[in-house]
Amino acid sequence: MFSLDERLSLCAEMVRDGVKIADIGTDHAYLPVWLAKEGRISSAVAADVRQGPLENALRTINAYNAGEKVRTVLSDGLDMIPEKEADDIIMAGMGGELIVKLIDRTPWLRDKSKHLILQPMTRADVLRRYLCENGFEISKEKACISCHKSYSVMLCIFDGKKRECTDEYAYIGCLGSDKSVEARRYAAVILGKLEKKSRGFEEGTKEYKEIKALIHKLLEITEEMSE
Ligand SMILES: C[S@@+](CC[C@H](N)C(=O)[O-])C[C@H]1O[C@@H](n2cnc3c(N)ncnc32)[C@H](O)[C@@H]1O
Repeated sequence: MFSLDERLSLCAEMVRDGVKIADIGTDHAYLPVWLAKEGRISSAVAADVRQGPLENALRTINAYNAGEKVRTVLSDGLDMIPEKEADDIIMAGMGGELIVKLIDRTPWLRDKSKHLILQPMTRADVLRRYLCENGFEISKEKACISCHKSYSVMLCIFDGKKRECTDEYAYIGCLGSDKSVEARRYAAVILGKLEKKSRGFEEGTKEYKEIKALIHKLLEITEEMSE
């Protein structure tokens, strides 16, 4: 069997044992095939919006004789995923804004029995804000470093409670109270990006003051993370 990299391992760690999963944007289907072969899940739908990635997925499924447990489906987001085939839904390796769009148009995800495991490649701030404001609790969040890059994986469950999302929470989420090397590295990367962005604003403007205030708050949080 192949092994998963740190990023997909962290996604796998958040999947409940014995459940049915849907992996949205599966590409090579490494995660569902690995989970199936490890005996961790009862079945998987490996979904992608494009035929090419689904062919990659089929090759992995066939190479590891995982066809009994893993099926592929051509689907834009969760549009073609039957609700009863998905207890845990993974969306990894896609942009945060796309993940928001896909969650928002799938009403059956607003159900506390469904677990969403989300790993945004970009705009995690947009995703966290959407989750807070739309009744999804980020019940767990962990960071990892894979191929020298920093990632965050969130476990989200709908409870219908709308939460206020501060700017600093939008940017580092639950990782602000995590002292691990991975979380500190994630926060440092975010700070670096915000510092760079701030240099694009003219000093004294509203945008400049706002981003500097956010950087200041994040610096305070990162100091506490290092204590
Ligand atoms: C970078 S790959 C991520 C593969 C795997 N999930 C991972 O994290 O390693 C992103 C995949 O998402 C698929 N994708 C993009 N938009 C999608 C959508 N609206 N619905 C389903 N899949 C989508 C792409 O075709 C691509 O195969």
